[in-house]
Amino acid sequence: MANVVNSTSAKLKISPTLEINELVSKARGEGKHVVHLGFGEATFPIQREVLHAHKEASKETSYMPVAGLEDLRTSIASFNADRLGVNISPDQVVVAPGSKPLLFALFDILDGAVLLPRPSWVSYEPQVLHAGKKLFWVETDAADRHTISESSLLSTYEKAVSEGQVPRIMLVNSPSNPTGHVFSASCVQTIKEFCKSKEIILITDEIYSDICFDESQKGISPFDSTTDDSETVILTGGLSKTYSAGGWRVGYAIFPPSEKGEIIRKTVLAYASECWSAASAPAQFASIKAFSTSEDMCTYRKSVTALHRYCTLKLYSALKELGLDVGQPGGAFYVYPSFSPYSTQLNKLGIITSADLSAWLIRECGLAALPGSAFGEDDNGPLHGRFRLRMATSYLYFQNEVDRYEEGYDLLKRCASGEEIQLPYLEEAIKSLGNAVWKLKNVRL
Ligand SMILES: Cc1ncc(COP(=O)(O)O)c(C=O)c1O
Repeated sequence: MANVVNSTSAKLKISPTLEINELVSKARGEGKHVVHLGFGEATFPIQREVLHAHKEASKETSYMPVAGLEDLRTSIASFNADRLGVNISPDQVVVAPGSKPLLFALFDILDGAVLLPRPSWVSYEPQVLHAGKKLFWVETDAADRHTISESSLLSTYEKAVSEGQVPRIMLVNSPSNPTGHVFSASCVQTIKEFCKSKEIILITDEIYSDICFDESQKGISPFDSTTDDSETVILTGGLSKTYSAGGWRVGYAIFPPSEKGEIIRKTVLAYASECWSAASAPAQFASIKAFSTSEDMCTYRKSVTALHRYCTLKLYSALKELGLDVGQPGGAFYVYPSFSPYSTQLNKLGIITSADLSAWLIRECGLAALPGSAFGEDDNGPLHGRFRLRMATSYLYFQNEVDRYEEGYDLLKRCASGEEIQLPYLEEAIKSLGNAVWKLKNVRL
């Protein structure tokens, strides 16, 4: 048969995050009990006023403006201006059905090779490759797998140049999926200065920026809305994580008001007009409320952060106590442990890649976590990539949608006010992890 799809598209695979959901469903269908730490989908109840606004807007069926509703762009601009302490005009904002298509559009339309920190979120690499771009991994600090040094930036850049490529795009993501790490102000400065010196356009994915466990870190960002054309930083964010509304599909990009920024913004708009047209109308109306800086919304964002913090740090402590090599997360809802302290036992079991480890955990221990390789981790690299897994805490709260709304608001409130809370699914996850480590300790060597 002649080729049905072109050779670039033939390399696309179902995203590992969606694939693990299918594996979990299959195991559950076979009657197995599986603790799901594999999917990063926030599941708290949606803030009441936002939910109400969405219901009220359900009769809005017209196509929205390509750039997004003006009131929503105003809300996004002032929310971020407040967070970052810089001026942002609504004209700098483009709204889309999620930040994922915006990132896809940016990788597609911008010119040059791409620098990505290793590890990085699962979708960047396929997006970059699909756009026909060359990707170069920037190695991160072995201790936290996230801090980026000037020397690693330079050596990656030089490697690209030696292969005849010119990096013109870099993406960073803080708080990070998969590590949960938050960049320090000085690390951000290093990256920003490096990109400026090499005329690299820097995309800063700040989808988790509200969920910083230390509130003072929320404003750490390379984005400063400058009109200086020698420095181009584009910020992306959205509704999915803080507001537990991934399925509503609202994301945004903010462009600098420089000449270059304007060229990119207009090209993204043209791309959007030919591709997705606009984000969903009811979700856009609801988002005006979500991004507001009203007292109620600020309280909601604080409670969400408090609960993610509580649960994620508890899982982190448990992993550490079990002897795994794990960095302390500073935000989002992920931990990124390495099972390298048990490498001898794992080798004995024939587990030699992070995908083997992930499959063994689902099969033998009823635990689903994504392999490091899904995040660009090198199974054969010097940094124990083959023993890394990303664990998400977002499914550890409620059994179903009824529980989510019946118990969720109260849980958020109690956690934010420092009251004692019980998270039975977290306890169950910790028990299953303990069981997995016990199995490893008992491997006959
Ligand atoms: C780091 C990161 N960026 C972007 C996204 C995309 O989010 P959305 O398209 O829902 O805005 C995700 C979702 O998992 C993510 O983890």
